[in-house]
Amino acid sequence: MKVYLAEDYQEMSRFAANLIASRVALRPECVLGLATGSTPVGTYELLVEQHKSGKLDFSKVKTVNLDEYVGLPADHDQSYRYFMQTNLFDHINIDPANTHVPNGMAEDPAVECARYDQVIDELGGIDLQILGIGHNGHIGFNEPSDTVPMGTHLVDLTQRTIQANARFFASEAEVPKQAITMGIGTIMSARQIVVMASGADKADIIKAAFAGPVMPQVPASLLRLRSDLILVGDRAALSKL
Ligand code: GLP
Repeated sequence: MKVYLAEDYQEMSRFAANLIASRVALRPECVLGLATGSTPVGTYELLVEQHKSGKLDFSKVKTVNLDEYVGLPADHDQSYRYFMQTNLFDHINIDPANTHVPNGMAEDPAVECARYDQVIDELGGIDLQILGIGHNGHIGFNEPSDTVPMGTHLVDLTQRTIQANARFFASEAEVPKQAITMGIGTIMSARQIVVMASGADKADIIKAAFAGPVMPQVPASLLRLRSDLILVGDRAALSKL
């Protein structure tokens, strides 16, 4: 594992944006695995800036997002599709047909999960996967568990995740209770994986995941099975590592 200590959120974002930009420059038709949440917002802003200044062309890039809430339509302002549109896709020259997010409104989530795995397969897998980390160590929406899910699957969100994400909704009752998420197996198969973390509230889970035992009860710890893993965090998030 390589750890990059960034001075602050801005420097962490610059590091991740530069990694993504160089991947796109090297392979214009690359497949990016993208995350939502507050952590990558600054990274997406920098990518938009680079695109607007003419330095970054997304015309051939393909993206697959990690997860989506069940029951939120694409135009709901808390859906992850909406997040991706407003934070990135609407501001760059990506072909909408090349952007993939699980469909949280699918009638049969099991069919949607299988379809999503097939999409990733047909794209030839993920070149660069960006990850945030939940306070309980979740990646995507792979919550702590006794088993390691391989492919895309339906999850019941933990109370802790529902509470953590309630800040984005009018009330906790409005937070969806389920999500569709890419599996840990798929994430681990990405050709490069970058975990981002920012803020003192992530310090304990960063320590548990990257210095404690490797176990599915702390999903992010499994990423250490990849010796080429990159962790980039700001000083506050890495303070206990
Ligand atoms: C969310 C997402 C994750 C994200 C995590 C952390 O629930 N499903 O993909 O990494 O929680 O979010 P944040 O970056 O806002 O701390």
